[in-house]
Amino acid sequence: MSNEFVARSLDEVRFWSRIMKEHSLFLRLGFRCEDTQLINEANQFYSIFEAIENRANAFTIGEDPQTITRFNEEVHNAASHIWVFKRKVLGLILRCQLPGANNFPLLVDHVSREANYFRNRLEELNAGRLEPLPDAIIDENVFFLRIMADHAKFISHLLDPSERKLVEQANNFSHEFDQLLFQARDLDSMRPQSQTAPLLDQFLDQNRVSVKSLRDFKKTASDLINACRIKSIIHPLLADHVFREAERFLHMIDMFESSLTGKPMPAE
Ligand SMILES: [Fe+2]
Ligand SMILES: [Fe+2]
Repeated sequence: MSNEFVARSLDEVRFWSRIMKEHSLFLRLGFRCEDTQLINEANQFYSIFEAIENRANAFTIGEDPQTITRFNEEVHNAASHIWVFKRKVLGLILRCQLPGANNFPLLVDHVSREANYFRNRLEELNAGRLEPLPDAIIDENVFFLRIMADHAKFISHLLDPSERKLVEQANNFSHEFDQLLFQARDLDSMRPQSQTAPLLDQFLDQNRVSVKSLRDFKKTASDLINACRIKSIIHPLLADHVFREAERFLHMIDMFESSLTGKPMPAE
């Protein structure tokens, strides 16, 4: 059991600390040259999460669970701080105090939701509190479907408008994931879990199909951006970042599926 706690903690921290580190970079790139204070703060968060990522990678499964509990607390603290920073930046943008800065409000809100998610995961892990499976399935899907719908919107808006075909594909994904999100919310309100349980297998299957095709679209876009074969203002690292988040969601869907059916996880 304690091994499981260490393994799950390290898995979450390794994935999300890299994501938080990259958010710091994306935020910094979106500020104007004169926003030196904000640039410094973003750089500090970059170093903080880089250090956390390195420490998480150095720990092993055999680590003392108490050490990991303390580590999780420390990471939780850092995640709370970056959440506050992101909400502050969002406030500045919404009040038009950063005119000409290059990050969409929805993107800043989005990265703050990811920080909040990370913080909650750490809290749950340390409290040893696991939601009943059907609740966890619905909650995670509501969270990740919205994340995926946002990604499609960011891609659509950051592609050059002359990339008509790709913009159209991104818009189609945006619509598809908005629909899936509404469907997930409908299911969410039909709880308690005992009533929704028989529907979850089909729910996961349906989501998996769409996430796979969005994941493949992101992979293609990322490859094309890296090869300089399409016009966009998408940072190559952002393309890879959203691809990894789709992979994460797929991994969770497979994990839930195998917990539901007792079937082993598909090979990577
Ligand atoms: Fe992200
Ligand atoms: Fe994201």
